[in-house]
Amino acid sequence: MAGLAVNVDHVSTLREARKISYPDPVAAAVLAELAGADGIVVHLREDRRHIQDRDVRILRKIVQTKLILEMAATPEMVGIALDIKPDLVTLVPEKREELTTEGGLDLIVHKNSIAETIGTLQNSGIPVSIFIDSAPEQIKVAHQINATMVEIHTGAFCDATTIKKREQTFTDIVNGVKLAHKLKLGINAGHGICYKTIKAFKGLDEIDEFSIGHSIVSRAVLVGMKAAVKEMLALVKEL
Ligand code: PXP
Repeated sequence: MAGLAVNVDHVSTLREARKISYPDPVAAAVLAELAGADGIVVHLREDRRHIQDRDVRILRKIVQTKLILEMAATPEMVGIALDIKPDLVTLVPEKREELTTEGGLDLIVHKNSIAETIGTLQNSGIPVSIFIDSAPEQIKVAHQINATMVEIHTGAFCDATTIKKREQTFTDIVNGVKLAHKLKLGINAGHGICYKTIKAFKGLDEIDEFSIGHSIVSRAVLVGMKAAVKEMLALVKEL
């Protein structure tokens, strides 16, 4: 049965809109765990647009399940990860001007530098996931450079506006998941998944965990964090 890791970045987005102290992503993480989440995810961005260093440090102390730190493979972020020691680091590409992470890491282009970052983190006992598109060549490189697991980018599928595009992007995800499983990589999946699109993953049992943020936090604004997490958990556990 797949797990659900809840990304609380956008609780911080609301806080940073006013640069005040609430709502606190730490409180949201506690509520998500009480509702049954299997992990808490935060993306500490270079520009600190939502999650702040203080959030990650407090979460490290209080998260009872597991803390997953999404970050770019930069010297600054590697230093923070080595200090904080999250339960998993997910390496993501990052561009200052993007609204959100726009695609997977290109391992063909960045193979050597990502391999070095994986080695540094793993030597310190931190497992590393790499956020990549489902293309077979990306998955093969992830395996070659010894990633602990991959997170398959589901954004193109979730955002597809035509049936053709939806079918094509989902077939790509299925093929990517099957290949990663054959290569014995752990498999997470995420980006853009909502209460509707999660249902498409029924029967894709190779996926270990879904990483979901925006849709859960959006629903939490209306129904509360615990209710929003419980609803998504019920859908994930039905898959
Ligand atoms: N996985 C990764 C690697 C991400 O960068 C994000 C967005 O921060 C997510 C999952 C969650 O995406 P969403 O907020 O659209 O659910």
